[in-house]
Amino acid sequence: MQAELREAIARRIEKFQAELRVRGWHAAWLGQSTNLRYFSGVVEHPSERLFGAWIPAEGEPFMLVPRLYHDEMQSLSAISTVVSWNDEEGMDAAVHSHLAMPAGSTIALDPQLQARFVFLFREQLAKVQFTSAGPLIEQLRLRKDSYEQACLQRAAEIADAVMAEITAGPLIGRSERDVAADIVRSFEEHGSEGVSFSPISSAGANAAHPHHGPDGSIIKPGDCLVLDFGGVHQGYASDITRTVFAGQPEQRMRHIYETVRLAQQHAVENLRPGITAAQADALARDYIAEAGFGGRFLHRLGHGIGLDVHEPPYIVGGSNQVLEPGVAFSVEPGIYVTGLGGVRIEDIVLMGEAGVERLNHAPRELTVAA
Ligand code: CO
Ligand code: CO
Repeated sequence: MQAELREAIARRIEKFQAELRVRGWHAAWLGQSTNLRYFSGVVEHPSERLFGAWIPAEGEPFMLVPRLYHDEMQSLSAISTVVSWNDEEGMDAAVHSHLAMPAGSTIALDPQLQARFVFLFREQLAKVQFTSAGPLIEQLRLRKDSYEQACLQRAAEIADAVMAEITAGPLIGRSERDVAADIVRSFEEHGSEGVSFSPISSAGANAAHPHHGPDGSIIKPGDCLVLDFGGVHQGYASDITRTVFAGQPEQRMRHIYETVRLAQQHAVENLRPGITAAQADALARDYIAEAGFGGRFLHRLGHGIGLDVHEPPYIVGGSNQVLEPGVAFSVEPGIYVTGLGGVRIEDIVLMGEAGVERLNHAPRELTVAA
């Protein structure tokens, strides 16, 4: 593990423990989740065996993992103390012997924890109270530290490179599914850990549905093509959308395209630290409504991004969440017209002291591909 990440994690744990003490909580348990990755660097997919990290409000955190992971975790985890349990001993005994707390203690649980482990904890630690660590962890993960900002920047650069490859074509005559497969392959070739979500590649009228899944539809001359995808770099997600045209689009689609492009530009140029998520959403939504497409922008303006491709803050009407320096999120307005098509343009931005910086730089001018 890089020294920079190890130091960042040490600072994150220190803050977490201070916040646990402020709340009067005695410890937190993190399961196989991005929260565990945030506080230990460990990547582990959910399974039936108890695996995670115990962060006490005071004292030394430790990993509690199945015996088969023990030695590996000593080198992979930034939490250097590793305790393990074996299959014969079982998880019940492991919880009982390693995580026992005095009656009346409060333990904060990772909200991404599988329900089976919540039941296990409730059975084995009968006299303690459980609460969600969710809101606290969300608050801690909201502002990205410099290590995270660098990872998001690199993740966005890779997404830009994939977008350049895909939009270079050929596109006409190919199926949405073929194009989606190319996107996955391209991320692999760029050394990504994988895609951050199943790529969207929606042609023509299919693009009127913002989350249409790629199918056998063939891309025809004149079609719009919404390409929305992302990869994972050192755990950090990218997420980019461009809408290109397979051959010259008709006038109405050109007008829709320019409206979305300018709405996105308007939002990006007017985002300032201290703005609320609702105000941010309104920047693009009002612009689109004034252009005569009110009601055709079918989703929120954006979402936070980090170890999860969708995470707080959600840039949505009604949210008083303040966007402060260090917060990374998407700005992705769209216009969708049933039977005709859709346009969406999405960049990840990072809030700074004076405004936002775009992390994506793929061209946004109307592009006619072959
Ligand atoms: Co997206
Ligand atoms: Co997005």
